[in-house]
Amino acid sequence: MIDPLGRHISYLRVSVTDRCDFRCTYCMAEDMTFLPKSDVLTLEELERLCSAFIAKGIRKIRLTGGEPLVRRGVNDLIKSLGKHLNGGGLDELTLTTNGSQLEKHADALFDYGVRRLNVSIDTLDSDKFTEITRGGKLAQVKAGLAAASRAGLNIKINTVALKDFNEDQFSGLLGWCGEQGYDITFIETMPLGDIGGDRTTQYLPVTEVRHILEKDWTLTDCDHNTGGPSRYTDVLETGKRVGFISPLSHNFCATCNRVRVTCTGKLFMCLGQDDNADLRAPLRASEGDEALNAAIEEAIGRKPKAHEFIIEPGNGGPALSRHMSMTGG
Ligand code: 5AD
Ligand code: SF4
Repeated sequence: MIDPLGRHISYLRVSVTDRCDFRCTYCMAEDMTFLPKSDVLTLEELERLCSAFIAKGIRKIRLTGGEPLVRRGVNDLIKSLGKHLNGGGLDELTLTTNGSQLEKHADALFDYGVRRLNVSIDTLDSDKFTEITRGGKLAQVKAGLAAASRAGLNIKINTVALKDFNEDQFSGLLGWCGEQGYDITFIETMPLGDIGGDRTTQYLPVTEVRHILEKDWTLTDCDHNTGGPSRYTDVLETGKRVGFISPLSHNFCATCNRVRVTCTGKLFMCLGQDDNADLRAPLRASEGDEALNAAIEEAIGRKPKAHEFIIEPGNGGPALSRHMSMTGG
């Protein structure tokens, strides 16, 4: 698939559920209303959808949420998607997870062909972890990470940079990741969805994160590029990489290779735009994939040039009304 700006679309992110067992303060409101079941694609529909995208040239799929591992039966989906690996058109199948359910899933994930995971941890202080996730247990996530490493899965930690909350954790997180053999990426907060508060008070630019880290670590720019919004630097002391994601900057749109599907089958061509295409109706309209394929092609044909986030003082509400848990990270 090539969009009108000549970008090859090879990466699909699929939110398999809007539900989560955490309620991270920057992601969700405390009392979230989740979608009715009938709106959400069945596992069979998700599999059909992914297969259609693979047939169209998608080479990498990331399952996200919400929390993908809280969806009942998600293992079956991962198993069937894994069959597209190793010559079946798919180069990589991966997940973004909060790690809470990882201990029991790690071995199966590896068996089905998953080799890498992104796991979110914003602080190594157990009390603060429970505070920011509104109830999550750090020890449980750490047990999941240990199981994942034992199973042979490579780990990247995602840390959301939050002003006046976790600045004192950045350096320790980087050191801990070095010891454990994990990569780490720091992410700026994105103005997605109503969280029942002002987002501008949470915003901390990743340039600031880098300054803080450089007090303790020697960082040098490297040209590792995944086509995404991350910029990477090498950490001399750990020999690992640290990434910085600044989703509000436009510097990656020109090479953007990705699209996203929500768990209700809406295809978003850009994380920072509301324009989307409904794939659920064509999925449900017939057993064949003709209508589905046509809808995908039509949508790729209107992938926008760049996103339109705004987060400014006095404009602290969401720039886009949908939550991160709808489209995934
Ligand atoms: N801004 C930035 N990152 C977010 N995440 C969830 N919501 C937001 C937001 N509003 C992060 C999670 C996870 C990744 C998928 O995105 O912590 O690491
Ligand atoms: Fe759940 Fe991830 Fe959102 Fe936290 S950021 S509430 S773990 S989906």
